[in-house]
Amino acid sequence: MAAPLITILNGPNLNLLGSREPEIYGTGTLDDLETLCGEAAEGLGVAIDFRQSNLEGELISWVQEARGRASGLIINPAGYSHTSIALMDALLALDIPVIEVHLSNIFTREPFRHHSYVSRASQGVICGLGFAGYRLALIALSDILEEDQ
Ligand code: DQA
Repeated sequence: MAAPLITILNGPNLNLLGSREPEIYGTGTLDDLETLCGEAAEGLGVAIDFRQSNLEGELISWVQEARGRASGLIINPAGYSHTSIALMDALLALDIPVIEVHLSNIFTREPFRHHSYVSRASQGVICGLGFAGYRLALIALSDILEEDQ
């Protein structure tokens, strides 16, 4: 049987990881993050499709693409977390588990980061744990998928 596919989407400015506000987001790059996710996925027996976009519409199209293709979805919507009803709506239309991840602890930062539309469409939210948050999200999703079997 083919390994279940988990889509991992990263929103705007996450392509700049490593050089973007390293005191908040760390010094690892997006490539490093993809490698970490790939290794974690291999250990868990799942496959990943890891993507990043700066465009809201592209992220929404990728969420739609996950329908009928992926078994679960991890998303760091970045700045769109706090603004995008359209991204939330696309996620609400999905019938697979969604986990929202933020590298930083959005609740210890500016008040406008304390609310995320995407959280309404997410089974769980992980924030403040840096890259490890993605690994934990993969573990949680593979547990959920096993329970559903
Ligand atoms: C972020 C937190 C958001 O508030 C911010 O806009 C980002 C990154 C995080 O991973 O900590 O771009 O999602």
